[in-house]
Amino acid sequence: MVVCRRVDNVVAIEELFFEGGFMKRSLRRAVCKVSAIVFLSLFCMAVPGLAQHRQKPPKPTGPWMNTSLSPDARADLVMKAMTLDEKIALLHGVGMPTDDPLTPENAPSNRGVGYVVGVPRLGIPGIDMSDAAYGVRSSQANGRYSTALPANVAAAASWDTHAAYEYGALIGRELRAQGYNMSLGGGVDITREPRNGRTFEYLGEDPILAGTLVARLIEGTQSAHVIGDIKHYAFNDQESGRNAVNIHIGERAARESDLLAFEIGVTEGHPAAVMCSYNRVNGDFACENKYLLTDVLKNDWKFPGFVLSDWGGTHSTEKASAAGLDNEQPGRFFYEAKYKAAVEAGKIPASELDDHVHRVLRSMFAAGVIDYPRERSVVDPFAGLVVARKIEEGGIVLLKNERGALPLDAAKLHSIAVIGAHSDVGMISGGGSAQVDPPGGNAIMPPGQGATHWQEQIWFPTSPLKAIEARAPEATVTYNPGVDPAAAAAAAKGADVAIVFAYQWESEGMDLPSLSLPVYKGVDQNALITQVAAVNPHTIVVLETGSPVTMPWVDAPAAILEAWYAGSDGANAVGNVLFGAVNPSGKLPNTFPLKEADLPHPTITMPPPASAHFDGAATPEQWAHGLPPFQVVYDEGIKVGYKWYDAEKKPVLFPFGYGLSYTTYSYSNLQVTPEKTVKATFTVANTGARDGAEIAEVYATLPASAQEPPKRLVGWSKVWLKAGEKKSVTVEIDPKYLSIFDVAKNDWSLLPGEYTLMVGGSSQDLPLKATVDLK
Ligand code: BGC
Repeated sequence: MVVCRRVDNVVAIEELFFEGGFMKRSLRRAVCKVSAIVFLSLFCMAVPGLAQHRQKPPKPTGPWMNTSLSPDARADLVMKAMTLDEKIALLHGVGMPTDDPLTPENAPSNRGVGYVVGVPRLGIPGIDMSDAAYGVRSSQANGRYSTALPANVAAAASWDTHAAYEYGALIGRELRAQGYNMSLGGGVDITREPRNGRTFEYLGEDPILAGTLVARLIEGTQSAHVIGDIKHYAFNDQESGRNAVNIHIGERAARESDLLAFEIGVTEGHPAAVMCSYNRVNGDFACENKYLLTDVLKNDWKFPGFVLSDWGGTHSTEKASAAGLDNEQPGRFFYEAKYKAAVEAGKIPASELDDHVHRVLRSMFAAGVIDYPRERSVVDPFAGLVVARKIEEGGIVLLKNERGALPLDAAKLHSIAVIGAHSDVGMISGGGSAQVDPPGGNAIMPPGQGATHWQEQIWFPTSPLKAIEARAPEATVTYNPGVDPAAAAAAAKGADVAIVFAYQWESEGMDLPSLSLPVYKGVDQNALITQVAAVNPHTIVVLETGSPVTMPWVDAPAAILEAWYAGSDGANAVGNVLFGAVNPSGKLPNTFPLKEADLPHPTITMPPPASAHFDGAATPEQWAHGLPPFQVVYDEGIKVGYKWYDAEKKPVLFPFGYGLSYTTYSYSNLQVTPEKTVKATFTVANTGARDGAEIAEVYATLPASAQEPPKRLVGWSKVWLKAGEKKSVTVEIDPKYLSIFDVAKNDWSLLPGEYTLMVGGSSQDLPLKATVDLK
């Protein structure tokens, strides 16, 4: 059993057979790569006892197993057979894995971060949850392997709905293979504060782009019969003081900004679960906020699934239950004994209890976790690498490319200087609960010392240096760590090309002190780029960041690529773009401002000490009561991201929706059909010499009476065009996207008047324009 649990990926097999380390690492990998999957299958089949945990549990019986009934009808049937204790057991977790020993029931998974015990007597399995923002978390501790996809923000930069689905589908498959049946991914808080340490986990600053992509991601995840979720609902836009902060925002601004992303994600992606966030919103904690949970989510959006709290985000029993919180995580402080007592005392009506239980059960049926029980199998690391690379290739954004500096022509290069950011061995990843374990440990640590720790910079073993060497086999490729800018400049001087890798690391639980490229261990990355570019006119900067960065050196290098956190096979993706095997097509999902002073809030409001953390270890009672609030006022309202810079007429470094290609595109012939669903039809032509994909963006200016920022994104299409090809493109615009939220009516309202539609390749390059009167 133990052997089988460990022998399910390359790394584990490698450890098993080559623990003595007598073979060169590269050779070991090669041997393991060929044999891993075949070996595992044969081995586990041949030795019956070893495969026992894969045996399917007996098929549950009961009238609720009639698959022709709706999830709701099936949930009702189960509930008729349940005791009060069994019902309440579905409303809470049983602690972090470390708090709770493995039971035969939950042994199939690696243990993630949350577990609901289910009702085994009635064939209702436990809900086994793992974090899975950009891949399945914590696999290595269990001898397993997970693919690290590029950061979510990189997927957003692809503006590619199919890629978003593939992203979610890979996560769903790998969760299932590791024995989980619920994902804690689906982050979609919009980038209102770009210094938020979780910006990499989210999908950018525009609610329509982010909401549309998260919906596809959720569909992909749930296609593997795991429960998908969307998080963190809502307004968890800064990490500083996240457990205490009270966000103030007006209702219309709320509905048209952050909540719109969730509305699209929930109504189009149909996640089985929503995770409410830590912060307060207009006075109440999000996890006991009736406006958010009941009025908006469950009533207006008709969300039929269940709401679970962020970890430790439950703060009451009766209030939270009445507000709409269905499930406490990870523990049971409020939603077990206290909950039962409140039901028995009549303080929580039976109908309210039943509604929560029904939501959990119907979600399990709807997602398929009962009809398709979780089952461990082998994660296919090679398929994962392909998906991760393709998504990264589609999400890399070419920010600058002067004098045709890129793509590089290997045949003409004799010398390449590769500099900085550990680019000899790895690429950085985003931290916190999203952190995926790198195979073999942190790439910058000696083998065997690579265990990962909370809030430690983790580097994936994907080497840009090797990727570059492989693509320029005739050139002399040198590496300089960049710790001494003068020495790096000396290494770059005289090289045909200097490629400087620079990074900004971010993580849950912290915000960035600024948008400047950080100084790490005394290495001033801004100075490094400036000094290298000063001596080598063919300097290319590759950024590995989750958030936008400021670039005091922007004029100096010939080319700049934004590679984000590039995932398991990031180096090959970057190599393919640098050398032109892939024509870059990503566009920015977040504005890159010129300077911090231009942000809606030049500084982040930090919590006073009493709201920052408890003195010493908090008791459950203290934690439950919560930290005293401090106030953050979203006075920019609707004006998030480009809407702010447009309205305030502030120039930016690189605008939302911007990104270059190795070819060129032209736009013509815009026609707008003012039917019930407005359609924008136009022609996009590839006017250059290379095949490529252009993201054609459609923005709208609403009538003056709407009192909206100058424009908003209302649709887009990613169009693949051969060199010289042109295509007619039609973008259908959801009427809601042209509407305002009318608070008095509590609904979206399309105001009569003149609408201007604008089409082009960036929010600041919109050559086509047409006006229509809508009634
Ligand atoms: C994070 C969530 C995460 C949960 C479980 C929380 O601290 O905010 O995103 O899913 O922990 O790890």
